[in-house]
Amino acid sequence: MINRTIVVTGASRGIGKETVLLLASDSKNTVIALSRDLDLMQQNFAHLSNVNSQRFDLNEEILPQAERIFSTISEVSILINNAGYLIKKPFKELTQPDFQKSLQVNFLGPVELIQFLTSRMAVKGAHVVNISTMGAFQGSSKFPELIAYASSKTALCNFTEVFAEENKDGNIRMNCLCLGAVQTEMLAEAFPGYLANTTPKEMASFVGDFALNMGPFFNGKIIPVSNSTP
Ligand SMILES: NC(=O)c1ccc[n+]([C@@H]2O[C@H](COP(=O)([O-])OP(=O)(O)OC[C@H]3O[C@@H](n4cnc5c(N)ncnc54)[C@H](OP(=O)(O)O)[C@@H]3O)[C@@H](O)[C@H]2O)c1
Repeated sequence: MINRTIVVTGASRGIGKETVLLLASDSKNTVIALSRDLDLMQQNFAHLSNVNSQRFDLNEEILPQAERIFSTISEVSILINNAGYLIKKPFKELTQPDFQKSLQVNFLGPVELIQFLTSRMAVKGAHVVNISTMGAFQGSSKFPELIAYASSKTALCNFTEVFAEENKDGNIRMNCLCLGAVQTEMLAEAFPGYLANTTPKEMASFVGDFALNMGPFFNGKIIPVSNSTP
């Protein structure tokens, strides 16, 4: 019997919400659900006593928030960096604050959270799963107007490779999943009318299973998770 503490960011809706529901369906898991919308998470997970929902904003100072949330949590087995911020604008209209927010939420915030949790992840089988996009996968077809989003997610991919190399003799495995289109609010807001052939629940089943079981087989890998071309 393995009791795991699992942290999922971006847990209020979409793929993150479904991933929390899936992981918490095993009562041996304790899931720390993080996002800005605490009320929504408390509604989503009201029926699950093993979900601990906490307000967490990747666009605010990370350390004080992490110290508050994890003050009584000494061990974390799995971290799923799922939260994401997508801004869709032509390059010429993107502002420096647009780029800064994209980098902060999609890259710098997750990196600081990883740095904070590293000492708590000195457990056998620890696994960090970073959620990126096919738009950040080298050689894939690109959507226009996603430069700030895709380039900030690309940084997360590269970080994964270098972190894994630097920590290859340690406990923590780290991988990066580059997701194809999933029918979530993020997709619908960015591409109204586009219909993806994968539901958030279906993608969550892949992400959850990968996070739980694939650490021994992958490290430092950037993996496309897409059933369509591109
Ligand atoms: N859907 C797709 O087609 C697709 C494709 C490729 C990759 N992805 C990636 O998959 C992940 C999940 O996407 P999704 O489609 O499920 O998106 P979503 O429905 O928009 O959910 C995004 C989640 O991120 C959280 N979030 C956003 N800004 C945040 C911030 N500043 N601080 C903390 N949390 C924040 C949101 O929660 P709050 O608003 O409550 O903070 C929400 O729970 C993202 O990383 C996305 O880039 C999605």
